[in-house]
Amino acid sequence: MTSTDVRPDAAAALTFPPGFFFGAATASYQIEGAVDVDGRGPSIWDTFSHTPGKTHQGDTGDVAVEHHARYREDVALMADLGLQAYRFSIAWPRVLPQGAGRVEQRGLDFYRRLVDELLGQGIDPWPTLYHWDLPQALQDEGGWTNRDTAARFADYAAVVHDALGDRVRHWSTLNEPMCSALLGHQAGQHAPGERDAVAASRAVHHLLLGHGLAAGVLRDRGVDHLGITLNFTPMTPATDSPADVDAARRLDGQQNRMFLEPIVRGAYPADVVHDLAAAGAPLPVQDGDLEVIAAPLDWLGVNYYFCSTVRAVEEPTGKATAFIGGECIEDLTPEGPTTTMGWGVHPQGFTDLLLRLRDEAPGLPLVITENGSAWPDEVAADGQVHDGERTDYLVRHLAAMTDAMTLGADVRGYFAWSLLDNYEWARGYAQRFGLVHVDYATQQRTPKASARVYADLIARHTQAG
Ligand code: NOJ
Repeated sequence: MTSTDVRPDAAAALTFPPGFFFGAATASYQIEGAVDVDGRGPSIWDTFSHTPGKTHQGDTGDVAVEHHARYREDVALMADLGLQAYRFSIAWPRVLPQGAGRVEQRGLDFYRRLVDELLGQGIDPWPTLYHWDLPQALQDEGGWTNRDTAARFADYAAVVHDALGDRVRHWSTLNEPMCSALLGHQAGQHAPGERDAVAASRAVHHLLLGHGLAAGVLRDRGVDHLGITLNFTPMTPATDSPADVDAARRLDGQQNRMFLEPIVRGAYPADVVHDLAAAGAPLPVQDGDLEVIAAPLDWLGVNYYFCSTVRAVEEPTGKATAFIGGECIEDLTPEGPTTTMGWGVHPQGFTDLLLRLRDEAPGLPLVITENGSAWPDEVAADGQVHDGERTDYLVRHLAAMTDAMTLGADVRGYFAWSLLDNYEWARGYAQRFGLVHVDYATQQRTPKASARVYADLIARHTQAG
């Protein structure tokens, strides 16, 4: 598909309620580079990405898109697009190079400068405290498998709030704890690269405990706009056979419900607790933990990309490795067009997910903290990036979101993933998710055609409101 295939009227037809806001999202290790600048300590992603064989072509975040040096230019790009909000993450190892103890003021100063630049442009800062770059020093003590890391995270939250609390209103604790826990400790695809069911299960609980403890710290300091970002992958059984239906239940349990339910109702799902115990990897819950984890929130961040169709298989095929306790589940290759990540395009799944959250997290406002797609973008001879597929994905997902809002889903804002092409973790620089193209040789930024569509849509919305 090319940009000419996208109906321009489709974006123009979308309308959003007054007060609804639009932004874009990034994460520290994916964009900042400058890994040894201003006293930053190493993180688990430095270690992992420098381990041969772990990432696409050995790509690392050492340089990334040099956002640490170019943040002013990047904020100016955001202002050009008319973004109302910017979601970014704070690198724990910039602030506490050893994970705990000595605070690195130069690390905090970088985020103060960034926040001030945003505020100067009228862009609302939405920092996330943890987007996967755990200080390596804490990993050396067991990382998220160690209960103590949850307490260290709460201490870190206090340090960051001391520095930025006077100018930041919206706070988020974790990004996608499912990925940290299961991709990092069960599938081995993300840092720290473990493949151990017991470690994965411990990481799940300690991440959520860390969230709850940090939420308590931020609340005590008067934060009144607090959330967490979870990713959701709706699961459909390939057939209605009992085995496939059970496979979908189990995967939905571990990838979606295991994170949502303790947060919104203070209990892990009983079927998941049972499955994990049966797999010899029980959740290490102690008295009082679930009350901490269920700390009241002001919003739930929702990351949505695609849906999965799953089936039970007799022998492990290695296609659903982010699953604790037996891999006899297979994630089927999506039908229809796929992004360069190999993910399908399922806007209806987005509507269905938001309606599910309307029902399962009643009363909790939703913010779409990520949604987006990767395509094989190139700068054409005319100097433009004609990313019609991304525009199509964006417009169809915004339409799907408004469908759910019409049916009662309380969605307050939308952050596109991502502002810039960036380091897509183990998939390296080969996957381009940005609204803005980055030439990695020159660091030149070029807004793609989709960025213009997004900017026009935001302008129409803000002028109407
Ligand atoms: C979710 C993660 O939060 C983000 O870091 C990643 O780049 C996107 N999904 C795309 O995979």
